[in-house]
Amino acid sequence: MIIIESLNKDKHRRLGFACGKEPLDRFLQEHAHQAVAKNLSKTYVAVDESDETVILGYYTVTPCRIEPGELPRDVARMMKVPELELPASLVARLAVSESVKGRGVGSLMLMDAMARCARVAAEIGGVAIVVDALEESVVPFYARVGFKRFEPDALKMFIPMATVREMLGISHQQRQAG
Ligand SMILES: CC(C)(COP(=O)(O)OP(=O)(O)OC[C@H]1O[C@@H](n2cnc3c(N)ncnc32)[C@H](O)[C@@H]1OP(=O)(O)O)[C@@H](O)C(=O)NCCC(=O)NCCS
Repeated sequence: MIIIESLNKDKHRRLGFACGKEPLDRFLQEHAHQAVAKNLSKTYVAVDESDETVILGYYTVTPCRIEPGELPRDVARMMKVPELELPASLVARLAVSESVKGRGVGSLMLMDAMARCARVAAEIGGVAIVVDALEESVVPFYARVGFKRFEPDALKMFIPMATVREMLGISHQQRQAG
């Protein structure tokens, strides 16, 4: 069974991680722990219960803002948000070890990240989740769960928090009460 938990430098072996994209490997190996220690971002890792020291994948989340006018106009109207800076959550990085690619770990982590962002938004606000697809070939990975591009051809994508709540069966009132 796959477990997703906070990165722990004393438990998880970061040096062996290889996803095929060197900057993403380097971030995990050299910077993720410091970023957590400084509260710049939080990193969560996927491990298998058979050996919880081996990192199968990771994602990093942090708050962000959407600039005025950045959301497509029809979406902003549908979301009924003002044309001001808007609070959001950023899934800044998401990567899966080459050894387990194509086995659902990426999807599992993305759903976990989305649920986490929805819980945070219920506590402190946040109108959407933002991701930066690393390259065009990754866009479908996010699009299949409902992320849309900010602009035609852009790699920066978003999904309204209301859509996430609906997908995950979380009502706003329920979350606020909890
Ligand atoms: C992109 C990535 C995270 C996907 O992880 P994964 O565990 O291999 O993906 P999954 O097994 O959960 O695949 C889920 C679905 O997305 C599809 N998918 C996976 N990677 C894809 C890609 N690069 N492009 C398009 N679709 C992709 C799969 O075909 C699968 O669809 P299916 O269920 O209809 O077969 C992984 O390939 C990766 O780490 N890539 C390198 C780092 C990177 O590019 N990160 C993203 C930007 S930060």
